[in-house]
Amino acid sequence: MSNAVKFTIDGLKATVEGKEILKGVNLEIKGGEVHAVMGPNGTGKSTLASTLMGHPKYEVTGGSVTLDGQDVLEMEVDERARAGMFLAMQYPSEISGVTNSDFLRSAINARREEGDEISLIKFIRQMEGKMKELEMNPEFAHRYLNEGFSGGEKKRNEILQMMMLDPRLVILDEVDSGLDIDALRIVANGVNSMRSEERGFLIITHYQRLLSYIKPDYVHVMMQGRIVKSGGPELAERLEKDGYDWVKEELGIVDETVGQEA
Ligand SMILES: Nc1ncnc2c1ncn2[C@@H]1O[C@H](COP(=O)(O)OP(=O)(O)OP(=O)(O)O)[C@@H](O)[C@H]1O
Ligand SMILES: [Mg+2]
Repeated sequence: MSNAVKFTIDGLKATVEGKEILKGVNLEIKGGEVHAVMGPNGTGKSTLASTLMGHPKYEVTGGSVTLDGQDVLEMEVDERARAGMFLAMQYPSEISGVTNSDFLRSAINARREEGDEISLIKFIRQMEGKMKELEMNPEFAHRYLNEGFSGGEKKRNEILQMMMLDPRLVILDEVDSGLDIDALRIVANGVNSMRSEERGFLIITHYQRLLSYIKPDYVHVMMQGRIVKSGGPELAERLEKDGYDWVKEELGIVDETVGQEA
């Protein structure tokens, strides 16, 4: 019996401070699939990520989200994480006073039953192994979470968290922004090493470049708080070459952003 993941977003609508930002998002991610979400600035991509993770600012006003048949929208934030959802944020927060390794170990243990916590030795061995894979300086284990990390260091650290937490649904929001050329390859290798039937990926990016390393199965374009167009990897290539105007023309969209109207 395979343990393939199944993640379904159906007609998801959400508002922030009374403004509707997500206007009916539909997406299905099945075992092993990588879905890329692209789209101009301010079209709702990060809002989708935050809403899926249960950020309290975003109020769901319609639709459903299920992970392996479980109702995600009914879950608290920590339950979503325990169910296997993981978000690498566009702007990771800095937490002073909590070291990276303490944070990671707590996050891992929060997903385990009481009495079944990961042993310190096993944890350290795992973390050291993953940090090596990501070519991270070991000192990052002991630094306060993201504090003073460079942009690229934060992104690499998000990928470390992903690798340690072994999630079922991975959402990466612009994980490529700020990465130098070598770091991009290292991060992409990290993601690729995690690809399996037991995991699905939703990767938000502006650039085809990341997708030449992490080959997506599907590419979606978000505009006006909806997925307005879907295709294969060739869609990302066309967008890189021609921009978004042709999509707007094809669909009769004048203003692709959301939330501008009163
Ligand atoms: N907490 C918030 N308060 C007010 N407005 C918000 C909030 N979150 C999102 N919005 C608005 O919703 C719209 C969509 O924002 P979102 O961050 O989802 O865009 P995006 O597609 O991720 O853009 P980018 O490519 O620039 O990251 C924007 O107009 C934004 O200002
Ligand atoms: Mg964003």
